Amino acid sequence: MQQLTFTRPDDWHLHVREGAAMHSVVTATARIFSRAIIMPNLKPPVITMAQALAYREAILAALPSGNTFKPLMTLYLTDHTTVETLLELKNTPEVVAIKYYPAGATTNSDSGVTDLRKVWHLLEKIEELQIPLLIHGEVTASSVDIFDRESCFIEHILDPVLQSFPTLRVVLEHITTLQAVEYVLAGSDNLAATITTHHLLLNRNALFTGGIRPHHYCLPVLKREIHRLALLEAATSGNPKFFLGTDSAPHAQTAKESSCGCAGIYTAPAAIELYAEAFEQANALDKLEGFASFYGADFYRLSRNTDTITLRKQAWTMPESLSFGEVQIIPFRAGELIDWQVVSA
Ligand code: DOR
Ligand code: ZN
Repeated sequence: MQQLTFTRPDDWHLHVREGAAMHSVVTATARIFSRAIIMPNLKPPVITMAQALAYREAILAALPSGNTFKPLMTLYLTDHTTVETLLELKNTPEVVAIKYYPAGATTNSDSGVTDLRKVWHLLEKIEELQIPLLIHGEVTASSVDIFDRESCFIEHILDPVLQSFPTLRVVLEHITTLQAVEYVLAGSDNLAATITTHHLLLNRNALFTGGIRPHHYCLPVLKREIHRLALLEAATSGNPKFFLGTDSAPHAQTAKESSCGCAGIYTAPAAIELYAEAFEQANALDKLEGFASFYGADFYRLSRNTDTITLRKQAWTMPESLSFGEVQIIPFRAGELIDWQVVSA
């Protein structure tokens, strides 16, 4: 297949940061995607409705004129979130979900939940209100190997939560393991998962090819090839429990190329093109539209997009670096070929 036209996609997991940095990255997503779920892990985190709405306004103000991209906002769940805030969220259509970070699991997660028992009453309310709960599914204990943190979370935290709250609507974000695929497949229709481009295209060898590769470091960390293959099979299966969430997570070049480099891969400048590459690898380009454009909207109970985009199989080279506010950022595949190009969007 040399050309592909399908319904305009949405990105169900995205980081756009703030200020000048946000201005540099948000258009990469807005040029292609109709909507995106905006992650709340700012400094300080987005914990109130007022913060979420102000952040939304700032994103809208950064868009090129005429662009109709819709940021779908989320709140950051903390030990101190109140039931009143959840009720407000339910009545605010611009804010569509609440994000659970185990404290310390990733970038700006220090305000995350320290102990699930502290938010048990909130989970009850989140279930009752049918608010989507977006989960960063990794345990944080230093005794647990970093490659096992997702499977350990599923067994010891997620499963007990879903046993207690069987109608909770959960998106297990950026899944990385065969165990996560199997768990989501076995779960109810209330349980879904997003899958990133980088976890579909890379295994953990990419962290160490010829030397240490900070631009391939993200959380959850890349896993073995068997896990990548399980993710690829899930994404291309046509099962609506799996949908597109890039987790494009921009950090300045200096913050990545450091003695303690940040986690996050900036895939937004070629996100849909990279998904096309992964789906083509699996001989499943016909399954891309459902994954990218239908199943996420269906899960969030939003309407599907109606216009289309067109990709052509023609290679182009990703720039070596891009501007990120006042500084530079190294995008995924910097200086390398991307097989597909968007020719109309
Ligand atoms: O790699 C990651 N980067 N994983 C996350 O969970 C957070 C994200 C970020 O915000 O940089
Ligand atoms: Zn993320």
